[in-house]
Amino acid sequence: MSAPFYITTPIYYVNDVPHIGHAYTTVAADFVARWRRLHGDDVVFLTGTDEHGLKVQRSAEAQGVTPREWADRTAQRFVEAWRGLDISNDDFIRTTEPRHYHAVQQFLQTVYDNGFIELGTYEGLYCVPCEAYYTEEELNDGRCPIHDRPVDHVTEENYFFRLSAFEDRLLEHYTKHPDAVQPESRRNEVLGFIRQGLRDFSMSRTSIDWGIPLPWDSSHVTYVWFDALFNYCTAVGYGADPARFERYWPVNYHLVGKDILRFHAVYWPAMLMAGGLEPPQCVFAHGWLLVGGEKMSKTRLNQIFPADLVADFGVDGVRYHFLADQRFGPDGDFSYESMVARYNADLANNFGNLASRVLNMAVSYLGGTVPEERANGPLAAAVPRAYEAMVGAMADLDLAGALAALWELIRNANAYIEASEPWKLYKAGETEAVAGVLGDCLETLRAVALLASPAIPRASADLWRRLGLDGSPESERLPDAINIGRLPAGRSLVKGDSLFPRKDA
Ligand code: MSP
Repeated sequence: MSAPFYITTPIYYVNDVPHIGHAYTTVAADFVARWRRLHGDDVVFLTGTDEHGLKVQRSAEAQGVTPREWADRTAQRFVEAWRGLDISNDDFIRTTEPRHYHAVQQFLQTVYDNGFIELGTYEGLYCVPCEAYYTEEELNDGRCPIHDRPVDHVTEENYFFRLSAFEDRLLEHYTKHPDAVQPESRRNEVLGFIRQGLRDFSMSRTSIDWGIPLPWDSSHVTYVWFDALFNYCTAVGYGADPARFERYWPVNYHLVGKDILRFHAVYWPAMLMAGGLEPPQCVFAHGWLLVGGEKMSKTRLNQIFPADLVADFGVDGVRYHFLADQRFGPDGDFSYESMVARYNADLANNFGNLASRVLNMAVSYLGGTVPEERANGPLAAAVPRAYEAMVGAMADLDLAGALAALWELIRNANAYIEASEPWKLYKAGETEAVAGVLGDCLETLRAVALLASPAIPRASADLWRRLGLDGSPESERLPDAINIGRLPAGRSLVKGDSLFPRKDA
């Protein structure tokens, strides 16, 4: 029976259209989801849109449409953006769906009945883009530390979630599960925040109606973050399908940007505890994709859209860049120039070149069929070594590290060709030796196609077909599928066009 594996992206606000900052998290989650499927896991990969709250309501007003119309329109943009990047999500949740209303209301009632929600008055400073309250100390000269804009002064009768009751339980949880927030630096940040003392937070609003009404007091709608976070439970059947919920909860990974770490690693586990549910196994917070040193945003007008990059670099080119160019954790700068450079170096020269060299030689020297012979040269050991390194890196969500290990294998294969000079062997009439060397290279190409498929699914599937293999890399199961000797002799090889044509700067 295959193991359940549940991974999520944040659900994106529909006030904005999808840009490459959103794509960054989504492609990362897709890589992990595909990698787990390749190992036979029963994967649920969830993404979606966050559609309630003041921010969305105001965007809709600005456009002169209802929030629902606005949400329908923008949610569709996200669906299309992910389709355009070959994202393999199993579900796409929208917080305006009936399934989510039902789940949230059921959960709220439970938390209320458990005594963790109570009525109070709130007076505070609110940042609409964050959909969050701030204290004076947290602001920079009265401005939101994330959006660098003035905050609103708000007084409301609100229901409060008793976050303060969970300080000890959260600390105990993170002591018992040191990997529950990653990377380490983020874990320290979360622990520091909890140790400063937790304040109850307001979890309802009366000033707006674009939200989910509280089941016991319909004059209030649920605070957007309380509603949004619960999407992760709705999608795996909370309140509707207990067996399914039991199977996938607690989630394996929530991938989030560092901007929303506190919501995911402090509020969310406490909310779950209050409702008698288990906290996430791991919240992994990555850094920002910066453009010219700044976070991409609508107000800064520095957004780059995935489809524009796909037009220039292809789907795989874009996916590869996000995964390989910066470590999944710290911030990284995005630039077109470095994208061209990396594309040419890694995809055109290394990956593409290895494939075309090997296939060309196999066509010229071996009549275009997979030989029986294997030289059992250094690649025979390099393949499993690369796989093991990838396994280790992927277990730590070191996505760039995993790809670096695979590219090491590609470089080894290119070096092996240089060293063994099949063209000389061919001229010297050493047919068996040529077949042996190319046999090893073809086996390696098969392994490369397989291991690269979670990152660059199109080129990998293409290479798979050119090797005369049936099905696609996705139909294989690791770790068995990595073994050398899986490439059947006698199959016809196809040279084809270059997999990654070079780009001019
Ligand atoms: N709706 C909330 C999340 C609710 S999850 C229960 C939200 N949405 S968002 O659309 O503003 O941003 C969500 C996520 O998009 C960020 O946490 C991050 O994962 C990703 N990114 C948005 N801009 C980004 C960059 N410039 N760089 C990297 N990731 C960025 O917050």
